[in-house]
Amino acid sequence: MAKVKTTFFCQNCGTQFAKWQGQCTACKDWNTIVEELVQKPEKSDWKTPTSPKKRSAVPLLINQIDTSKEPRLNTFDGELNRVLGGGIVPGSLTLLGGEPGIGKSTLLLQVSLGLPYKTLYVSGEESQKQIKMRAERVNPNNSNCYILTETKTQNIFKQIETLEPDIVIIDSIQTLHSDYIESSSGSISQIKECTTELIKFAKETATPVLLIGHITKDGHIAGPKILEHMVDTVLQFEGDRNHVFRILRAHKNRFGSTNELGIYEMQGSGLREVSNPSEILISKKDEELSGNAIAATLEGMRPLMIEVQALVSTAVYGTPQRSATGFNAKRLNMLLAVLEKRAGFRLGAKDVFLNITGGITVDDPAIDLAVVASILSSNEDVSIPKDYCFAAEVGLSGEIRPVQRVEQRILEAEKLGFATIFVSKYNKISLQNTAIKIQLISKMEDLVDFLV
Ligand code: TYD
Ligand code: MG
Repeated sequence: MAKVKTTFFCQNCGTQFAKWQGQCTACKDWNTIVEELVQKPEKSDWKTPTSPKKRSAVPLLINQIDTSKEPRLNTFDGELNRVLGGGIVPGSLTLLGGEPGIGKSTLLLQVSLGLPYKTLYVSGEESQKQIKMRAERVNPNNSNCYILTETKTQNIFKQIETLEPDIVIIDSIQTLHSDYIESSSGSISQIKECTTELIKFAKETATPVLLIGHITKDGHIAGPKILEHMVDTVLQFEGDRNHVFRILRAHKNRFGSTNELGIYEMQGSGLREVSNPSEILISKKDEELSGNAIAATLEGMRPLMIEVQALVSTAVYGTPQRSATGFNAKRLNMLLAVLEKRAGFRLGAKDVFLNITGGITVDDPAIDLAVVASILSSNEDVSIPKDYCFAAEVGLSGEIRPVQRVEQRILEAEKLGFATIFVSKYNKISLQNTAIKIQLISKMEDLVDFLV
């Protein structure tokens, strides 16, 4: 019989303690240490299988390791492939996190239905009927996907052994539990144990496993930070639930860059890949309205044209309000201070509201110039020609600063039919004969001259 014991875990960082204490000495968080019953497994649960898929580990000279033989599994989803760096690597563990209701289950179910391989979708959250109903909406004709509603890892592995799937999807890691650990599902020790068993299974059979993970209210994946260290890839599914756009990012990727980004649109029949995001994010208006400006931003490696809207009005109450959606409020305050000081605008008695359309959040500093332009435009009530766009950072002394990969932004703007793009004079641009006019500016005053 294994020895039963209890251990104290920090629910924030997963550090183990022998006794209770008020503050975690590792992450310095208060009141996060909880007692959990732990029964140490005598042996891990995924028994090394006798299947021919088993890989043996022999030391190899680094030059002899053949990387070309490691084909990636095509997910038949262009956006997911791009974020993963070209497909799923056999034997890898991928964790997909995101807010409740954002579409994690929909995305992975849709992917598993579209795969030509034998797929096992394990759900601890929904019944087989519920999943079938959803599957009918997103992809009604598939016969390669098996659905299992089970939460005990021992039973899951038993099914895997008989089914021998090519890919396993777990929805979600927080619902799994292993018999070897006494504490309840979702606790630190359960998550750690279940993930360890799954890693062992994935590495030994070269079967990729995709896990869905819940996130806490501050946006981190629920469970210990160590979970993110254990898996190969951490993907984050983001977006505003009131909008249709969803963004898939890689926070960690052992097999590719974390700069790539996937964009989806949530529709009645599941998630649709968006391959031309710029065209969708800019509303095609006939009239020119004041307060609108278009920024040529980069999300990871992808150029995105994004519309910024500002409303500047006289403050009704003593303290003016500043509110920003999709943009850092501190950065907005900074830009307002620069406008006040460098361009002589009296914004101190004005309410300023800023909105990035499409429900996306931008942290590319190149959006600064468009933010400033939209505020100026609303304040002066003059509209910016709708074929103008902007790509530059604004510095504290009102200087227009260069941004990275400016040529890529210019080409995207040109492709979408913009007539003029405002960029910093200090950007090195070797593009020639562009149809788009490249307007170089060096300080805030230059922009004011053009717009007002
Ligand atoms: P879900 O995948 O269950 O979210 P998660 O697993 O991240 O909690 O789905 C979230 C929402 O997506 C749900 O509220 C309804 C919506 N949805 C659609 O709009 N269209 C669809 O085809 C599907 C399947 C879901
Ligand atoms: Mg779900």
